[in-house]
Amino acid sequence: MIYPIVKFGNPVLEKPSEPVTVFDDELKKLVADMFESMYAAHGVGLAAPQIGISKRLAVVDITFKEDPEAKLVLANPEIIHTEGRHTQNEGCLSIPEFREPVTRARKVTIRAQDLNGNVFERTGEELLARAFLHETDHLNGKLYIHHLSALKRDIIKRKIRKLVKAGEW
Ligand code: NI
Repeated sequence: MIYPIVKFGNPVLEKPSEPVTVFDDELKKLVADMFESMYAAHGVGLAAPQIGISKRLAVVDITFKEDPEAKLVLANPEIIHTEGRHTQNEGCLSIPEFREPVTRARKVTIRAQDLNGNVFERTGEELLARAFLHETDHLNGKLYIHHLSALKRDIIKRKIRKLVKAGEW
């Protein structure tokens, strides 16, 4: 099932999510739906709050279906190590049409649980590191625009308010 993507302005995006505690068939179905919804929206990462579900769960595939091994399920992810700095344009499915350069760590190690609840660690660089940080932020109620200057963030928020008024958001 393809879920509609929740957009900026919905409070679910700005509150911390609840830990995943049950690793059952329902979770597997939800994760399958999250991958489907992410691909339908042309994204490389999706966090559960973005489909209105306040759970510490995210999916990532920075290869966009090219490499099945690149499909990652992150339940209860934690950033355990960061290194270096890297600046790149970043966007978010919940803030469509906007992109801004964001400086983040270049190399990131994450610890998370897989679909069966097994704990694993994974280190990513550049785009994958960025995806780990961006999706973990989502689960803490944080969006990439929170990493921008207050001025840039206000400009984006003002544009979004206009789109909301026009019924285009
Ligand atoms: Ni996002």
